[in-house]
Amino acid sequence: MAIQSDAPAGQAHWVEAPPLAQLHERGPTAAKLGARQVALFLHEGEVLACNNRCPHEGYPLCEGALDRSGVLTCHWHNWKFDLRSGTNLYGGDALRVYPVRVEAGRVWVDVSDPPPAQRVAEVLGRLAEAMAEDDYPRVARELARLEQAGAPLDAAALQALEHSHTRLRNGMTHAYPAIDAWLRLRDQLADSDERLACVTEALAHVGFDTLREAPYPYATAHRNWQAEEFLTAVETQDEAGATERLNDALAQGIAFDTLEPVFAQAALAHYNAFGHSLIYLTHVRSLIQRLGPAAAAPLLRAWTRSLVLATREDLLPDFKAYAGALEKWPRPPDSHVSPSRPHLPSPSSTLSTSAPPAARFEALKIRETLAATLEAAAQHTPLALWHALMQAAAHHLLRFDERFAQRTDSPAGDDVNWLDFSHALTFGHAVRQTCTRWPQLWPQGLLQMALFVARNTPYLAPGLDSAAAQAAWAVDDAEGFDTFARTRLIDHGIGLPIYPVHWLKTWLAVRDSIALGLPQPCVNALRAAVRRLLSAQFKQRHALRSARQAQRFVERE
Ligand code: FES
Repeated sequence: MAIQSDAPAGQAHWVEAPPLAQLHERGPTAAKLGARQVALFLHEGEVLACNNRCPHEGYPLCEGALDRSGVLTCHWHNWKFDLRSGTNLYGGDALRVYPVRVEAGRVWVDVSDPPPAQRVAEVLGRLAEAMAEDDYPRVARELARLEQAGAPLDAAALQALEHSHTRLRNGMTHAYPAIDAWLRLRDQLADSDERLACVTEALAHVGFDTLREAPYPYATAHRNWQAEEFLTAVETQDEAGATERLNDALAQGIAFDTLEPVFAQAALAHYNAFGHSLIYLTHVRSLIQRLGPAAAAPLLRAWTRSLVLATREDLLPDFKAYAGALEKWPRPPDSHVSPSRPHLPSPSSTLSTSAPPAARFEALKIRETLAATLEAAAQHTPLALWHALMQAAAHHLLRFDERFAQRTDSPAGDDVNWLDFSHALTFGHAVRQTCTRWPQLWPQGLLQMALFVARNTPYLAPGLDSAAAQAAWAVDDAEGFDTFARTRLIDHGIGLPIYPVHWLKTWLAVRDSIALGLPQPCVNALRAAVRRLLSAQFKQRHALRSARQAQRFVERE
C-alpha cells in the first residue's frame, strides 16, 4: 500500500513503495505509486525507479533486462536506457526516472513532477531531437508531452523555425507555409487528437525537409536598410547583400507591416518559382501574426534566400511575352510600392465591376491568354478580372487530363501533376490578398495568373468542356463538403508531406477567397476544383519516367 504526501508541483512528493525485502525476494517489481506505474529495480545494492511503461510503446519495463552497468533494455524493440539518468542510449524518447530513498528497509519514491518551466524546456529539447531525426511518431509523443506540461504548442512551432531555418539550403520550403496551414486547420478543430495531428504534421514536415541537412548560415553583418537596395540585391541574386539589409531592418525593430510592401513588390517583380515567392510571403505574414515578432527573423531570412534563388520563369522562352504584356497594360504599371504611399486612387468608375466570362481565358496559348487579359483589363476592374481568371484556373484543374500525371514517357522538362493546377489557385488567392492592399501590383499579379492558367492548357482532357467537368465534381452541400475536406486532410495517409499540404493550402485558399466574396459561378467552380483535387491519387515517385528521361538525356550528352 502506497503512503502519499500531497505536495505542490515542483516540490518533493515521496510515496512509499514495496519494501526492500520484497525487491530482494521477487526481483524487479511494478507498483502503482499515486497515479503512476513505477518499476523498481535492485541494482548493485541500490534501488532504482522509473516509469514502468516504456516511453516508446508502453511495454512494461519491469519485464526488461537490467545489466551490471545499469543499462535497462526493453525487450519489445530493444531500446536501451541508462536507468540512473533516464537517458536513451538506443531508440528515441527518454525514460522518466525517480529519486529513491531507503530507510530501515522501507523504500520511498519521489513522484513529484519537476517545475513546469523545467518540464517544458526538457520536452522542447527532446522535440528538437525527434525533429532532427525525422521521427514522426516521436514528434507526436513529444508534442503530447509538451501539451501535458502546460505549454502552448505554438512554442514548439517557434522553436522549429529558430532551429531549422539555418539548414535550408534553398531558403524557405513548403514546410514553413505548412506550419501556418496546419495550425490554421487546428484552430477549426475541437477534438484534441485531431488538433495534435495538425501540429504533428506541421513540425514533422520541418523535420522531413531538414533531415541531415548541413548548416547553411546567413550573412550576419548589417547594412543600412533601404528598400531600393534590398530590391537591387534580390534582383542581382546577391543573397548576402539582401540579408544584410534585412538584418538591419530587423535590428532596428522595423515592423513586418512596414517592410511587407517592399517584399510584395520583390515577390511579384518576376513570374518566378511557380508563384512560391508570393504564396510564401502571405504565410510569413500569418505566422508572424500568430507567433509574434520573434518569428520574423527566421522566416524572413529563409524567405529572402528563396526569393534570391528563385527561378525567373518570365525569362524562359515560353513566358517571354509576359514582359511585353506588362508594358501594354492599359493603365501604366507602377510597380513601386512605397510604405508611405501604399495605395493608389481607386480604379476608374468606367470599368465594369462584373467579371468577364471565364471562358475568355480558357484553353488558350500563353500569348492568347495574355492578350485576352489585357483586353479585359481595359474593360473591367482588377478584381472583376481576378474573379474570371480564378474561375478559369479552377476550370483548368477540373479539366486536367490526369493521365499526364501518371505517364512514364514524358520528356525531361515536361512533367506535370496536380500541383501545377493547384498552384494557380493558391497563387491567385495570394494575388488578391496582396493587390487589394497595394493596387499598383495588380498588373503583375493578374498577368502572372494568366500565365498560370495558360501554361496548363496543353494538359487539358480532350473533348471535356468546363461545364461538364464542373458538373462531375459539383458541391451541393458546402458545409458537408468542408467536413469531408477536414476528415480527408487529417487522415490523408500520404507519405510525402508536400502533397497533403498542397491539398490543405488549396482548400484554405479557396475557403478564404469565398469568405472574401466571390460571384456564385466562381464559388461553384472553386469548390468543385477542390473536391476533385482532394480526390486525386498522387503518384509520389516516378521510377520508370525518371529512368527513361535519364537514358534519353545521357544518350545526347
Ligand atoms: S515498447 Fe519498449 S522499445 Fe518499444
